[in-house]
Amino acid sequence: MCNGAVMDAKAKNIFFLGKGGVGKSTSAALTALFLARRGLRTLVVSLDPAHNQADIFETRLSDKPHRIVPGLRGIEVDQAYWIRRYLKDIQRQIQHTYTYLTAFNLEKYFKVIKYSPGLEEYALILAYQEILRRYADHDVLIFDMAPTALSLKFFNLPRLSLIWVEHLLALRREIIKKRELITKIKLVKREIEQDKIVNHIHTSMREYQTLKHIFEDHDNTRIYLVLNPDPLSRAESLRILNGLEEINIPVNRIVLNKVTPENDGKPLDPAFSRIPQMTLSLSTTALIGVDNLDRYLASREEMFARHLTFAAAHRPHLGRPVAARQP
Ligand SMILES: Nc1ncnc2c1ncn2[C@@H]1O[C@H](COP(=O)(O)OP(=O)(O)OP(=O)(O)O)[C@@H](O)[C@H]1O
Ligand SMILES: [Mg+2]
Repeated sequence: MCNGAVMDAKAKNIFFLGKGGVGKSTSAALTALFLARRGLRTLVVSLDPAHNQADIFETRLSDKPHRIVPGLRGIEVDQAYWIRRYLKDIQRQIQHTYTYLTAFNLEKYFKVIKYSPGLEEYALILAYQEILRRYADHDVLIFDMAPTALSLKFFNLPRLSLIWVEHLLALRREIIKKRELITKIKLVKREIEQDKIVNHIHTSMREYQTLKHIFEDHDNTRIYLVLNPDPLSRAESLRILNGLEEINIPVNRIVLNKVTPENDGKPLDPAFSRIPQMTLSLSTTALIGVDNLDRYLASREEMFARHLTFAAAHRPHLGRPVAARQP
């Protein structure tokens, strides 16, 4: 279940996905730095519970935006906080809706919910909603995602939850009908509309629909799938690609990372060939710290600009050379 008002997703969203260790965080950091250097108001957000952005930028990050360089701020989402908040939210809703439950029975419910599967992705979705609400005024939000399984669950959550809440709504309507039969009191439409549970289900439905639209909104949301030339990474990326396509979320870029003269040019699976590809070579110096990232970007300006034009459609100076950067 989600909470909060309808979201406004004006900022462009770019998600970096991929198998563990392929370079999602590094590619996200390079992209965020590149866009900020070109004058875009950029926020890099680590949605991976095992955070890396602070290490990459050699700074401290928390769940509040922290300035990295002019135009670029970073956040590392505190998953434990969002799980606690989600559980509290549920507790409040159950108490509010089922006022007849005793404290003992409530405690029983909470114990079950606390250990139920799926808490992590619900927590990430709540955090994501909050970020969209708070930072919609940014030009770009860059999301550094967790490895495959959790990320696919994250993107699947709105669609699956919608199926659930639609069933719940039908069930609730059935209960109301049965109640009418038993009590012989026909509930007028207004009373049904005032049914707390029906109202709550409707709110959840609206929020999941909004999220589903954001994920499928090609104008504002882009998925960059990071992979390495090795067979395991390619195989897992293919599964991610298929998994996302099944839910109508296209992959917009392949980021082929850690390319060397030895592994360069090996053909990727044909399924990847229709997707534009960014190639990032294996760096001989560690891609840690703003200076090293800047140096790595310096010889790849044109490629980054070409693959990120959508993020700056309203900022025609995106193609400006490095020399024109602000200090
Ligand atoms: N192009 C590159 N050249 C050299 N080293 C790289 C490159 N890309 C990533 N690395 C290094 O590879 C390691 C893994 O990169 P990174 O942490 O970005 O991957 P990840 O996909 O985010 O990993 P995780 O799944 O653990 O979050 C790091 O040590 C990083 O510095
Ligand atoms: Mg990472």
